[in-house]
Amino acid sequence: MIDTKDYKYEVSAAGRVNLIGEHVDYCGGKVLPCALSLKCKVYARPNGTDFINLKWSNMSDEISLDIRDLNAYREYKHAKYQAGCAYLWQEAGHEVKGCDLLIDCKVPFGSGLSSSAAIEVATLAAYALIAGETPDPVEIALIAQRAEQEYAGVNCGIMDQYASACGRAGMAMLLDCKTLKCEYIPVYTGEYSFVIINSNKPHDLVESKYNERRAETEAALTLLQRRFPIECLADMQPFVLRTYKTMLLPSIYRRAQHVVEECARVELATEAMRMGDMKRLGGLLTESHKSLEELYEVTGRELDSLAHAAWDHPACAGARMTGAGFGGCTINLVKSAAVEEFKRKVCARYKRETGYTATCYDVDISDGLRYREI
Ligand code: GLA
Repeated sequence: MIDTKDYKYEVSAAGRVNLIGEHVDYCGGKVLPCALSLKCKVYARPNGTDFINLKWSNMSDEISLDIRDLNAYREYKHAKYQAGCAYLWQEAGHEVKGCDLLIDCKVPFGSGLSSSAAIEVATLAAYALIAGETPDPVEIALIAQRAEQEYAGVNCGIMDQYASACGRAGMAMLLDCKTLKCEYIPVYTGEYSFVIINSNKPHDLVESKYNERRAETEAALTLLQRRFPIECLADMQPFVLRTYKTMLLPSIYRRAQHVVEECARVELATEAMRMGDMKRLGGLLTESHKSLEELYEVTGRELDSLAHAAWDHPACAGARMTGAGFGGCTINLVKSAAVEEFKRKVCARYKRETGYTATCYDVDISDGLRYREI
């Protein structure tokens, strides 16, 4: 048990799973994430100094950040998130006041379930409360994204931070990443359940590969814009892109093809979910994985092994990797009655094929940012 009794606020933000719409947020596409009951909690109290003192529930490190020199912590493995948030919170014109923070993050690190977004969102809300402000979830999501981009060095989209801050229990979020308009869609899966499985493959290279993919989609956009009046790749229809195939290098074309087709799948998947057509939804999840495997090339041996094992199981309607890729989790749509047997079979085959032991999570779709005085 962690000792939280002398703290003033308890803030929590959610990990997320993305149902579909992968690697399209930074191309202006729509995504369909859900906030999860896996949370990062931050306990906070003012300390009247010029320092932010950090403690973690699962590590013995204690680090103090000097509020007058917040640019100095970019190389810190864990504290860079709290430092980056404080730095960008100040940059956005807010006051950062001295405080003690205890971070208790139950979103597994490196799982592709957005532990860093949950940490950033909860931390920013704690800074707001300590300074006497009411946290605004959308503003916090945007500043958390900037902290990830400008301080932690990952040129990410807005999906994770938005889902972590603005999620709602039982709802998927159809988020238009171009306009930030978000429609909440009830998740009814009938006789099916979503199962999340962590490959437990260390998520190495994810940052450099992620930035590389983003640069490739930007290169595609720049070339296409010479011929076609689009603001972002998501504005292009798949059949229009096909007519420009020879204009792009084959590898760049494949990236663009994934983006425009994935955007189309998000619309179809939303429709399937509204209609309660789980077979159709599952089929789209599987198509999404195939595209991430073959065209976008962000899956890797472990995620492919997990997804392929799921596809071969008769109770599975479809499965795909979720998040940035290169390790992390799959999301599987499975007949509820067969979930336990599904998990056993898929994890056993995965272990045989890769040597890694997978972890399955029992999670609910939950609210995003929450806080209270304690
Ligand atoms: C990471 C990023 C998101 C998004 C996904 C891929 O989770 O943080 O912005 O790009 O990868 O869909």
